Amino acid sequence: MIPVIVIDGPSGTGKGTLAALLAGRLGWHLLDSGAIYRVLGLAAERRGLALDDPDALTPLATSLPLDFAGDQVLLDGEDVAGLIRTETVGMSASRVAIHPPVRAALLAWQRRCARLPGLVADGRDMGSVVFPDAPLKIFLDASPEIRANRRYKQLIEKGLNANLTNLIMDIRERDTRDRTRSVAPLCAAGDAVLVDSTALSITEVFDRILEEVRRVFPELVW
Ligand code: DC
Repeated sequence: MIPVIVIDGPSGTGKGTLAALLAGRLGWHLLDSGAIYRVLGLAAERRGLALDDPDALTPLATSLPLDFAGDQVLLDGEDVAGLIRTETVGMSASRVAIHPPVRAALLAWQRRCARLPGLVADGRDMGSVVFPDAPLKIFLDASPEIRANRRYKQLIEKGLNANLTNLIMDIRERDTRDRTRSVAPLCAAGDAVLVDSTALSITEVFDRILEEVRRVFPELVW
């Protein structure tokens, strides 16, 4: 069986950074499932599709011209890795993600990413829906204020405009939609290890995750 470690949680908890660190440390593959929903949101907007129309979005999700190549995220062959990180595309991603047939269309795509020697997958429903048999499931959480603060610092460091009050509002709005949608809502799988990163640095959270990796995969050497 191909080993899978999932890291789920809301945006701004550092799960993307941690998943990439962990995949790097173990030499495993990485699936950033949020990037898939972000690319779908961007592709839908570019094609002028209504984000609330599953009939229009599902065919696009089924044949999404998406590819990951190293750090590149290719949509129709164009690297959109930077473009998909904006708050606007994050909102679009959250809106296209509420439709059950859209999620179903992306399921096989995500499962195909499980390849030897192993996969670290991050998202919202990696543990609850996509990889329910994953032997290690981490659910990361942090207060909306601290998540907005981290996001604010990232944007300012990149020289981009940011407004903390708006970021907190956006995070709350996105959380509500992600947690209350009818299919695969954001929630910890029953057997997930909960880690609250509100008062922890990335290094501290990473150490905590490595402890769990050692517990679940005692045979692994890295
Ligand atoms: O992790 P992220 O911020 O890049 O995700 C963007 C949006 O995509 C998020 O608001 C909800 C959606 N998403 C999802 O529904 N399921 C996933 N597994 C990953 C992301």
